[in-house]
Amino acid sequence: MPSEDLGYIKEAISGELRRGLRAFCLERWQSLHENYAKLNMSESGVSPLKLYELEELGLNIESLREIEIGYGWTRGSPELRERISELYGGEVEEEEILITNGSAEANLVAALTTVSENYLYGTDVPNYMQLPGLAPFLGGKMLKLMRSHPSWEFPVGEAIRLIEEKRPKAFFMCNPNNPTTKVMKENALEELGDAARRSGTILIFDEVYWGSELHGDRKSALEIIGKDVAVSISGLSKVYGMPGLRIGWIAGNKGLVNKAWAFKDYTSIAPSVLSDKIASTVLKPDSIKRLRERSRSILKKNSDAFSSKLSDVLEIVPPEAGMFVWARVPWTNDTLEISWELFKDRGILVNPGECFDSPGFLRIGLGHDPSSFPKHAEELRIALQMIREKSVYIGK
Ligand SMILES: Cc1ncc(COP(=O)(O)O)c(C=O)c1O
Repeated sequence: MPSEDLGYIKEAISGELRRGLRAFCLERWQSLHENYAKLNMSESGVSPLKLYELEELGLNIESLREIEIGYGWTRGSPELRERISELYGGEVEEEEILITNGSAEANLVAALTTVSENYLYGTDVPNYMQLPGLAPFLGGKMLKLMRSHPSWEFPVGEAIRLIEEKRPKAFFMCNPNNPTTKVMKENALEELGDAARRSGTILIFDEVYWGSELHGDRKSALEIIGKDVAVSISGLSKVYGMPGLRIGWIAGNKGLVNKAWAFKDYTSIAPSVLSDKIASTVLKPDSIKRLRERSRSILKKNSDAFSSKLSDVLEIVPPEAGMFVWARVPWTNDTLEISWELFKDRGILVNPGECFDSPGFLRIGLGHDPSSFPKHAEELRIALQMIREKSVYIGK
């Protein structure tokens, strides 16, 4: 069972693991609580598919009996890499893709590949916060570019100025952005690409929410900018509803991808052959289309239900993508305490803004089945209202 003590939780989610490396707040918070929550509203992906549902996407479960459970292809099978290269509209070939264990491993090997001691790096904040945690630990000097309330847009002008003046070795961005859901515009990406090319900066995009954009299909930043300076990281966990396969990838130029492959020898060697086989079978263009539409429709329905239930309690940032909502709590900045009370007293799990360097905000999952979501949103509304009333009563 999780600890009863908020002091312990604070230390667990933000204490130092090693010199220069803090605990990964968001993942620690979720790992400590998600399996004990009665109502888990902390997920950032769409409700996961069941194995039998993949049969509708062309998987023959019986055929899995024949698979030899070996190491397979350590950089991912040619079939899977071919399927993924098709997502990028011809910008990359199959040997310019590396399959990883989730996009989390892709981010790790991207950091190992590009971060060197005492060089400058840029990142947008808030974001998933894996790279802002890892890069300084690897010796990089991190320049943080803050997105700000209420627009939360990526500050492209400032990013270009920073790239031109400071010439960072790489710039790490999360687009669509976790937690704010904001999507960068195509012309902003082009301008950023031009500045990076002039300055010799590599642009690394964590695009794990690519394909969920509510305003319709968008190209990857890699297609818009080009593989000479851009790298795309993505995976099957969020939009495609298969986090348990642990399939992620890096797509970019051959030199960088091959170097990342060499680092992967140290981190996990290979993806699971079972996951590789399942992913290469289901990732056909019509299934991709279906899965992306499934996610968008769930996001749209649940986002509407969320606003109608919670807009009196929270200031909601209208979602543009991702499977979650970003919302301000108008009556307090201590959202860690609120998240803790929701969990401890009601078994409801949401993510505190503190894990995104943004106290005063909550990230709340919208990926549930839309038939049950309005009931969940109502439970959350009642719980938040009670917390608000209590805090007014005790004069907090
Ligand atoms: C932006 C972002 N990148 C990477 C990950 C890691 O996901 P996975 O390893 O399941 O692909 C997450 C998970 O929440 C995320 O939000």
